[in-house]
Amino acid sequence: MNTEIRSLIDRLDAGEPLCEAEFEHLLENRDAESTEYLRGKAEAKRIAVFGRAVYIRGLIEISNYCKNDCLYCGIRRSNGNARRYRLSEEEILACADAGYEFGFRTVVLQGGEDGYFTDERMCGIVSEIKRRHPDCAVTLSLGERSRESFQALFDAGADRYLLRHETADREHYGRLHPERMSFDNRMRCLRDLREIGFQTGCGFMVGSPYQTNRTLAEDLAFIQEFRPEMCGIGPFVPHHDTPFADRPAGSVELTCFLLSVIRLIHPKVLLPATTALGTMHPQGRELGILAGANVVMPNLSPVGVRKLYELYDNKICTGEESAQCIACLTARIAQTGYGIVTDRGDFPKSE
Ligand code: 5AD
Ligand code: FES
Repeated sequence: MNTEIRSLIDRLDAGEPLCEAEFEHLLENRDAESTEYLRGKAEAKRIAVFGRAVYIRGLIEISNYCKNDCLYCGIRRSNGNARRYRLSEEEILACADAGYEFGFRTVVLQGGEDGYFTDERMCGIVSEIKRRHPDCAVTLSLGERSRESFQALFDAGADRYLLRHETADREHYGRLHPERMSFDNRMRCLRDLREIGFQTGCGFMVGSPYQTNRTLAEDLAFIQEFRPEMCGIGPFVPHHDTPFADRPAGSVELTCFLLSVIRLIHPKVLLPATTALGTMHPQGRELGILAGANVVMPNLSPVGVRKLYELYDNKICTGEESAQCIACLTARIAQTGYGIVTDRGDFPKSE
């Protein structure tokens, strides 16, 4: 292995920050041997912090209505072929109750930016879940909202919020999103969430159109600086009804490499092995766990709507009942030598 690359990995392992140019160099010059060296370091770090625990989150996809028009996303507003659905409050609560019975102590309510889910409605749902299951964490992933809205959701009892930054490069952001969305507002949301007290998650797609090692280096530098409690990264997967239909998908290998880098940058981060990774490779999520991920998010949505929450083509787990999905994932994780645990799996507090 190139000694320079080894020394960059050793510095990351020692907790030293790297600059953007160094991250770029690392990405540019990685090879099979350095990838495995990095993976070993990430695995050791992850075991030191979390042992062999893998946290599970029950994902409930509450609505595929979206007012946004992100160029990569299958539920973008201008996709007239998407059949739209929205779960009722009763359906959401029933999914959360079922999840609780299955042992989940975190539910994630995720949806497009659907104006139907006003603060009043969302706060009602969050507080009812917390009333029924006080020992359960509630994570929201509902896109950009005002600071007041984030505050209201937090006050209603929500614990965590996931909002991928998508790319830390302003110009790249502009090429993935329509004119009326703004990089600054995205970053404003993330900083508001953090200040309000949410455990906050950012993240990005690997292999999104126009992404380069340079923009990825900016993502890594951003993560190093922002230190999110959670970070969602998965390969870009094209959706047939979007402007990026003909773009190549992101690579599993690069996604795993980045998972390892992020584990070393921020050893305590909660890092999911994503459904998109499982979509791109039959053992994608297992490879993600072995690369340093420590969270999986099986689908708890009603089977009837799973296929409709189609951000990208060929999404896995759309035909299975929740119980099947949980059993499948549990067996898959066990095969990696790790094991699912059912506590809330909060971000570890500083000593
Ligand atoms: N491929 C992979 N991930 C996608 N997302 C949206 N569309 C795609 C796609 N085509 C991701 C985005 C978003 C998250 C909910 O899903 O990063 O933030
Ligand atoms: Fe959903 Fe395997 S994890 S079917």
